[in-house]
Amino acid sequence: MKHETFHYSSWQDVLSACTDFEPFLPFSENTAALFSPLSIGKHTSHNRIALQPMEGTDGLVNGSPGELTRRRYLRFAEGGAGLIWFEAVASAPEVRASAHQLWLTDKNVDEFKRLVDSIKEAGLKKNGYAPVIIMQATNSGRYSKPNGYPEPLIAYNNPVLEDTPIDSSRILSDDQLKVYEDKFADLSRLAQAAGFDGMDVKCCHRYLANELFSAYTREGMYGGSFENRTRFLLNAYAAAASEIKDPAFFLTSRMNAFDGFPYPWGFGVKEGDGIRPHMDEAIRLIGIIKEKYQIPLINITIGNPYKNPHVNRPYDKGNYVPDEHPLFGESRMMKCVSEIQRAHPDISVIGSAFTYLRGFAPNLAAGMIEGKHAAMAGFGRLAFAYPDFVNDLKNNGFINPKKVCITCGQCASLLRNGTPAGCVVRHREIYKPL
Ligand SMILES: Cc1cc2nc3c(=O)[nH]c(=O)nc-3n(C[C@H](O)[C@H](O)[C@H](O)COP(=O)(O)O)c2cc1C
Repeated sequence: MKHETFHYSSWQDVLSACTDFEPFLPFSENTAALFSPLSIGKHTSHNRIALQPMEGTDGLVNGSPGELTRRRYLRFAEGGAGLIWFEAVASAPEVRASAHQLWLTDKNVDEFKRLVDSIKEAGLKKNGYAPVIIMQATNSGRYSKPNGYPEPLIAYNNPVLEDTPIDSSRILSDDQLKVYEDKFADLSRLAQAAGFDGMDVKCCHRYLANELFSAYTREGMYGGSFENRTRFLLNAYAAAASEIKDPAFFLTSRMNAFDGFPYPWGFGVKEGDGIRPHMDEAIRLIGIIKEKYQIPLINITIGNPYKNPHVNRPYDKGNYVPDEHPLFGESRMMKCVSEIQRAHPDISVIGSAFTYLRGFAPNLAAGMIEGKHAAMAGFGRLAFAYPDFVNDLKNNGFINPKKVCITCGQCASLLRNGTPAGCVVRHREIYKPL
């Protein structure tokens, strides 16, 4: 199938373009399914639309949210989403992904609280409801860049990701991993003090907890078997749970179900089967955290934004043209999400990467929910471009095609550069293109 830029005039047109593969893109004409409430533990999301975590690289050097951070979240809250999955917040200074990544500490918890309170207030004032807010707690591991240049802390050397092997002094020892697991206890305590409703023990996009999922070649307690490869995540959960005092506060994860690299260099694949997704280990892991920690929901994603961004967030512009059609990528993402929701019908699954579908994204989101392939749809880049798309959809039944994200990838370039990220196309007055 020829790689073409987005030119479809209807979602039926999108389906007709999938000529050489069987698409799994369950569109619905009617988007009403997105506007029913959903219980999330002791909380309720007013609708089925979640805003995905997106680092804005606009925090202060001490880790506190800055003015741009505040503006982004107030826009998001006013936009009407039922759930805001707050961006990656570092668990230690040396594992920040940039010098401007947020980092929550005892010293700045009041700053975070002020922000969380104002997000809730803004939603309540504008829409009559406050969004549920989940904080994403992270250890950037391989992608740590606390001083503006790479200072990786890795689980194992991976030739798919390294042109020359990263120095072995940067491979975290079992003892170092234990120290980093415990940091999730502090973050859980602080996230409650800041007023977040829940915390995500992040295990996606090849940051540390996700990298360990594929540590087949690592020796010791954190490599080889499924039990060892998932030990870090489960210990981080135990640490976070040990600090829960607020009975309404819950734990969850944004989880990679599939990395898109062949065995033994990626999670969610099998030996001798290339990069075909296999969901069995993700399903098993979710089963364990569901039983032990009563997670009410899980946010599913795939791929690696640094190495195979087309798997993670399909696009059709930019310097790197992938060797697969973006609709194939969309279809793969939806299949993975659906398989997990079907295996765990008793928790709510949030699907990712709808933005590529532009104006038809809500139709795919609604179809996923109607078909019980997911309980919520998560939107990333679309929210940067068009923060009030939820209210527009609710009021008009469609979103404005002139305001949608065009998947140019500039927001991600800003992030990689360590500069404040946002939409350079729709908010030119603020964000200068690189
Ligand atoms: C600028 C930028 C920052 C991001 N930051 C995060 C993050 O902090 N945590 C995370 O899990 N994903 C992050 N992502 C990935 C998005 O949450 C989302 O998975 C991705 O953009 C695909 O969804 P979309 O097609 O709706 O954009 C980021 C993406 C972009 C473009």
